[in-house]
Amino acid sequence: MKWQGVICFFFCALVIFFGTWSWAEVKLASVTEEDCSKCHEDTAKHVYKRGALHREVGCLKCHVEHPPKGKNPIPSCDKCHDPGKTVHFGLKGCKTCHHPHYPLEMDLEKLGEVKAACLTCHSDQGREMEAHPSEHAGLDCKKCHMAHGEATQCMECHESHAQEMVYKDCLSCHKPHGPKAVQYDDEVPSNFCSCCHEDEGSALAKSNKAHHELSCAKCHESEHMAISGCESCHDAKPHGTFMHEKYPNCLDCHRDAHALAE
Ligand code: HEC
Ligand code: HEC
Ligand code: HEC
Ligand code: HEC
Ligand code: HEC
Ligand code: HEC
Ligand code: HEC
Ligand code: HEC
Ligand code: HEC
Ligand code: HEC
Ligand code: HEC
Ligand code: HEC
Repeated sequence: MKWQGVICFFFCALVIFFGTWSWAEVKLASVTEEDCSKCHEDTAKHVYKRGALHREVGCLKCHVEHPPKGKNPIPSCDKCHDPGKTVHFGLKGCKTCHHPHYPLEMDLEKLGEVKAACLTCHSDQGREMEAHPSEHAGLDCKKCHMAHGEATQCMECHESHAQEMVYKDCLSCHKPHGPKAVQYDDEVPSNFCSCCHEDEGSALAKSNKAHHELSCAKCHESEHMAISGCESCHDAKPHGTFMHEKYPNCLDCHRDAHALAE
């Protein structure tokens, strides 16, 4: 009966070996996402409540191994966000800005300078700052954008030129990323100019001539310091060639474009 014992031993060993092995397999494969919550309740709650699109990824897609056996329980971002795909994904230190379990909640204030990271997606604003150099170009983006998509209003840092101006009016003349290039449309109210140009404002307001009806922006069109010539609205020579040859400048006689004193 000795050989039977040997066969029995091998058979039992085989059964035990494969049994344990496949049991282990089955056990790993049958761990579901719900199981994670049983031991990591708080962490799971964060993912489900604040996970944004990572909620849909699922714990098991990221955590493919588990301690003590698994030596790599923490996935690296480039596993799914290919650094070659976008400039942003080529950055270093993703986790300094994004928590993997709530990747869109960022406290920019706690980070160092974020400008380089912002510019990976918003290169237009970088170009705008280069094209219109100003003191703003030296500020970090987060000074004005404390949270993604939000903007600090100008008056948090500056005085308004006039009491009646509200935040949206600032943007009607200044580009936030190039504030020195002042541009505006036809609709800009004249009192927004007169607050700095009282003389011209009051000359026009007091005048009983037809220019009284015109807004500043009609003659100073689109851009600060632009001046339209009289001939853009009037005949170039309304009083006959002879007179205009003698007095080439309309203001030789009309003196002041605003008050129109002849
Ligand atoms: C039976 C309880 C239990 C279950 C179920 C469980 N874990 Fe864990 N997990 C632990 C314990 C305990 C630790 C700490 C182990 C250690 O540090 O060695 C841990 C650690 C971790 C770590 C941290 C590893 C590190 O290096 O910091 C991650 C990630 C993790 N678990 C993810 C998961 C995921 C995902 C699931 C679901 C698939 C899951 N766990 C299921 C008990 C569990
Ligand atoms: C997009 C990938 C991703 C998903 C999805 C994800 N995790 Fe994580 N998880 C990570 C990374 C990366 C870390 C390491 C964080 C760190 O270094 O601070 C981590 C850390 C952990 C830790 C250890 C630190 C802690 O917060 O306790 C646990 C436990 C954990 N995850 C559990 C889970 C569970 C449970 C789920 C699903 C409900 C889940 N994770 C979903 C990527 C992910
Ligand atoms: C297992 C794959 C996987 C891993 C690992 C992973 N992500 Fe993601 N992540 C995704 C998917 C899928 C999306 C959904 C959008 C997409 O397809 O890009 C996403 C979206 C995001 C988003 C945008 C979320 C939203 O709601 O718009 C951020 C931010 C992000 N990931 C950062 C990270 C960071 C940082 C890490 C490393 C800590 C990381 N991811 C690791 C798969 C992953
Ligand atoms: C300096 C901070 C910072 C760093 C570092 C950073 N990000 Fe971001 N990331 C952001 C900001 C800000 C957004 C815009 C957030 C939003 O869309 O609400 C963003 C958006 C994203 C998005 C969502 C938009 C999209 O294009 O799908 C993903 C995914 C992402 N980051 C992944 C990464 C990965 C991966 C890394 C590392 C290679 C990384 N980020 C490094 C700040 C950072
Ligand atoms: C991964 C790419 C990515 C990164 C990094 C990123 N953004 Fe964005 N940002 C976007 C996208 C996409 C939008 C949505 C654009 C839209 O709605 O037209 C957006 C929108 C914005 C908006 C609002 C736009 C609007 O029209 O209202 C601002 C402001 C903004 N981002 C500033 C920033 C700042 C500041 C940073 C750096 C802290 C940053 N972004 C980082 C992709 C990014
Ligand atoms: C977070 C603070 C902050 C916000 C918000 C802010 N600015 Fe500024 N701005 C500054 C600083 C700092 C300077 C440079 C010093 C100074 O002139 O006060 C500056 C300078 C300027 C200048 C002069 C530029 C130059 O190069 O001389 C203009 C014009 C200007 N800001 C307009 C605006 C407008 C319009 C807004 C709103 C769209 C705005 N600012 C929002 C901080 C800010
Ligand atoms: C001085 C304040 C200030 C600084 C500095 C600043 N922004 Fe802005 N940004 C604004 C304001 C104000 C808006 C306009 C919001 C609106 O139209 O309601 C804006 C709008 C945006 C928008 C929306 C699209 C657009 O151009 O109107 C993006 C994107 C943006 N900023 C990105 C950036 C980035 C990237 C940086 C850093 C390189 C930056 N900003 C620096 C104040 C600033
Ligand atoms: C009608 C157009 C117009 C509007 C509206 C306007 N600005 Fe200005 N702003 C200007 C002009 C023009 C200058 C340049 C003056 C110069 O060359 O010194 C200027 C200059 C500035 C300066 C530089 C410092 C100074 O006072 O000369 C700041 C800061 C400023 N504006 C902030 C604002 C803020 C904040 C608002 C909204 C409350 C605003 N501006 C609305 C036209 C405007
Ligand atoms: C914040 C004050 C401020 C506001 C608002 C402002 N200006 Fe000026 N403007 C100035 C200053 C300061 C100068 C002188 C600049 C110089 O000579 O460098 C000036 C110069 C001018 C000049 C003279 C150009 C030249 O060649 O002599 C005109 C025209 C002018 N502004 C029109 C306007 C009009 C029109 C508006 C309204 C849309 C306006 N300004 C709003 C401050 C302002
Ligand atoms: C009918 C056209 C017209 C209107 C309306 C007008 N301007 Fe002028 N403005 C001119 C012309 C033309 C000049 C150039 C005068 C010169 O060359 O001596 C000028 C010059 C100026 C100057 C430069 C200083 C000076 O007096 O030479 C300022 C500042 C100015 N205008 C501000 C204003 C303001 C503010 C308003 C609105 C309240 C306004 N203007 C409305 C035509 C106009
Ligand atoms: C933006 C257009 C515009 C510009 C530029 C303009 N004007 Fe006029 N002006 C008018 C309008 C409109 C009237 C009233 C209707 C008419 O007489 O054509 C007028 C009327 C006049 C009148 C008659 C005033 C009255 O009450 O009888 C004189 C004089 C005059 N303009 C001179 C000038 C001179 C000189 C210049 C250049 C310094 C000039 N204008 C620039 C639009 C303009
Ligand atoms: C030699 C002086 C002189 C010159 C130069 C002159 N004007 Fe006149 N202009 C007058 C006088 C005088 C009147 C009549 C005043 C009145 O009717 O109140 C007049 C009237 C006008 C009128 C209103 C009456 C009409 O004809 O419709 C306009 C518009 C006008 N001028 C435009 C101009 C323009 C534009 C120029 C430059 C190309 C110019 N003037 C140059 C003296 C001059």
